[in-house]
Amino acid sequence: MSRSGKVTVVGAGFYGSTTALRLAEYDIFESVVITDIVEGKPEGLALDINQSRSIEGFETKVIGQTTTAEGAGYEATANSDVVVITAGLPRKPGMSRMDLIGVNAGIVRGVAENIAKYSPKAVLIVVSNPLDEMTALARIASKFPHQRVMGQAGMLDTARFTHFVAEKLNVQVSSVKTLTLGSHGETMVPVPSRCTVNGKPLSELLSQAEIDELVTRTRNGGAEIVALLKTGSAYYAPSAAAARMARAVIEDAKLVMPVCAWVTGEYGIKDVYLGVEAEIGRAGVVKVVEGALTPIELEELKKAAEAVRTKQADVKDL
Ligand code: NAI
Ligand code: 2OP
Repeated sequence: MSRSGKVTVVGAGFYGSTTALRLAEYDIFESVVITDIVEGKPEGLALDINQSRSIEGFETKVIGQTTTAEGAGYEATANSDVVVITAGLPRKPGMSRMDLIGVNAGIVRGVAENIAKYSPKAVLIVVSNPLDEMTALARIASKFPHQRVMGQAGMLDTARFTHFVAEKLNVQVSSVKTLTLGSHGETMVPVPSRCTVNGKPLSELLSQAEIDELVTRTRNGGAEIVALLKTGSAYYAPSAAAARMARAVIEDAKLVMPVCAWVTGEYGIKDVYLGVEAEIGRAGVVKVVEGALTPIELEELKKAAEAVRTKQADVKDL
């Protein structure tokens, strides 16, 4: 079996380490690099993952590398094809994603600058919160074309919506199709009109009140887990989402996924990073895919765009 491509995961916390493990277990990459500023942590995690290879049956090698915020150690990430940026603080109970903006902006800016220096052709997948703003900031700091910088949110929010629908109707998750657009925050836009179970519209299976309840739970999906964990935020479903995006890039899969992408007129919205469906391939966001929305869903998407636009405009000064 031939393996190709180099992927770097920046940040070896819960999100980063689970993402690196998933990427390695795909067994399609030549190498997975994981970095962190905590001395020894990425090296220790890499050693641990590598020692699982004979049990799980994969050959991809994981390389751990301690870095500094100033850029020491980034040589190990050189010529990465894809970079997943997970560096930054997670939420604590009661915090909103926006409460993280000050500290995470400094981290993400430095990371994006260092990555751009060593991997000028990489595709960046940002996950650090607040997601929409950190994606915009990584684009500015890396100076990459918009197409090569995207954020992970929609894959996760959609997966949460799917799970809640499957639980409610007691059906297999594979029979459920859902969609969320908009921001990874208050103005997340679940799209019930595009949701089906075994091809049947959700509206034929659940009342409006029941759908609204699932939509609200999806919107609060991250906070629900933060409140239960008390010491950090979710990482199993988030890492699955980011890893699948990285895989779609390296395989040039041209899969349509809900991601945070730069929009240039789709849905009548332009020049902002927003959760939309997009075809993901080797070039990053190959194209944004405009799907059918009800007038109310479209209005909510436009509201989401305006809400994140203001905040994204401010990140250039952070
Ligand atoms: P964590 O606290 O477990 O890990 C963060 C890691 O980043 C730490 O190991 C820390 O040392 C490292 N770090 C800090 N500054 C760094 C730098 N300059 N270079 C390299 N590493 C650095 O947090 P966790 O759970 O891994 O979450 C990471 C981020 O992902 C948070 O901002 C969190 O809010 C976000 N997140 C986003 C989701 C999404 O859907 N977009 C979902 C879940 C989490
Ligand atoms: C989540 O949605 C906290 O953004 C993170 O789980």
